[in-house]
Amino acid sequence: MALMKAAICRRYGPPEVLVVEEVERPRPKAREVLVRIHASTVNSSDWFIRSGIPDAPAFTRMMMKLMIGLCRPRRQILGLIAAGEVVEIGKRVERFHVGDRVYAFTKFHLGGYAEYTCLREGSTVGLAPVGLSLEEAAAIVFGGLLALHYLRKGEVRPGMQVLLYGASGGVGTAAVQLAKHFDAEVTAVCGPDSGALVRRLGADHVLDYTQVSTPPQGAHYDLVLDTVGRRKTSALRTACERALRPGGRVVSVDDGTPDFSSRELAELTELAERGAIKPVIDRRYPLEQIVEAHRYVEGEHKKGNVVISMVPGVS
Ligand SMILES: NC(=O)c1ccc[n+]([C@@H]2O[C@H](COP(=O)([O-])OP(=O)(O)OC[C@H]3O[C@@H](n4cnc5c(N)ncnc54)[C@H](OP(=O)(O)O)[C@@H]3O)[C@@H](O)[C@H]2O)c1
Repeated sequence: MALMKAAICRRYGPPEVLVVEEVERPRPKAREVLVRIHASTVNSSDWFIRSGIPDAPAFTRMMMKLMIGLCRPRRQILGLIAAGEVVEIGKRVERFHVGDRVYAFTKFHLGGYAEYTCLREGSTVGLAPVGLSLEEAAAIVFGGLLALHYLRKGEVRPGMQVLLYGASGGVGTAAVQLAKHFDAEVTAVCGPDSGALVRRLGADHVLDYTQVSTPPQGAHYDLVLDTVGRRKTSALRTACERALRPGGRVVSVDDGTPDFSSRELAELTELAERGAIKPVIDRRYPLEQIVEAHRYVEGEHKKGNVVISMVPGVS
């Protein structure tokens, strides 16, 4: 029996419920590929799933647990994102070959916190962007897909005044870059340590939510996009929503649960290959430090993305 290292989560709870162990390596079914994972990430969704979101409203918590396991995680290997190399293919796989560099948004299949995972050919998996390392590819999936989806929902257009609330997180850093790619004028709201980062990503104006409680006199927005979710707020956020132009929109990253397809992943790949979205990596941790990585991300002040490197030094 071939073994692999994986972070196992047997119950919902604090970061310490994640334990790195040796488990059986999965084998691909007819329509699956076996991927040797090089990198995964820790995003808000990862720690929400691990914790069982005890602070969420009862209805939200129940809906999430129906999907991921009522009393304990149904899939003991968490990790929403995986990027790696195809090392074996099932008998009926047509799209992928051994040696392909792939990346995936695994949805409720999870499995990114391991040395190997099996991915269905038809799932949200695609060839990793040319020109990015596998760590970098892993770092753009979560924020990139969510930012693209919600900017589209806000009908972003050239010349639009877009206010991005929470511009320094995983979704936020992707949204700044993509809104600029779509030729919007971007006002980024972030904390005191992130101004330089969001400017570097292209923001035209920056507001620090810890220092100011209203947007500049006369400022009006066509789109206010909240990219950090409703749990994080400030007086500035409310004031920005009041500065909406007639016909303008307020959109939150917490509106609905988008179901991404491989077509949307392919679109993200194309944007990355054109340089419209670049990875923003705050920290890298080896799998053995998965507890520390979750603890850091749960602090809710990461800048961009936190990567889990399965093969440190090789990406
Ligand atoms: N719809 C869906 O299906 C779905 C799925 C997954 C996640 N989500 C939502 O997406 C959100 C973003 O996820 P993420 O992984 O990108 O988050 P994240 O990276 O963990 O967010 C961290 C960022 O939040 C900012 N922040 C913290 N407190 C803030 C406050 N009071 N005001 C403004 N910014 C604040 C921090 O900025 P500073 O350090 O600069 O303060 C930090 O850069 C999640 O929180 C969740 O609500 C939705």
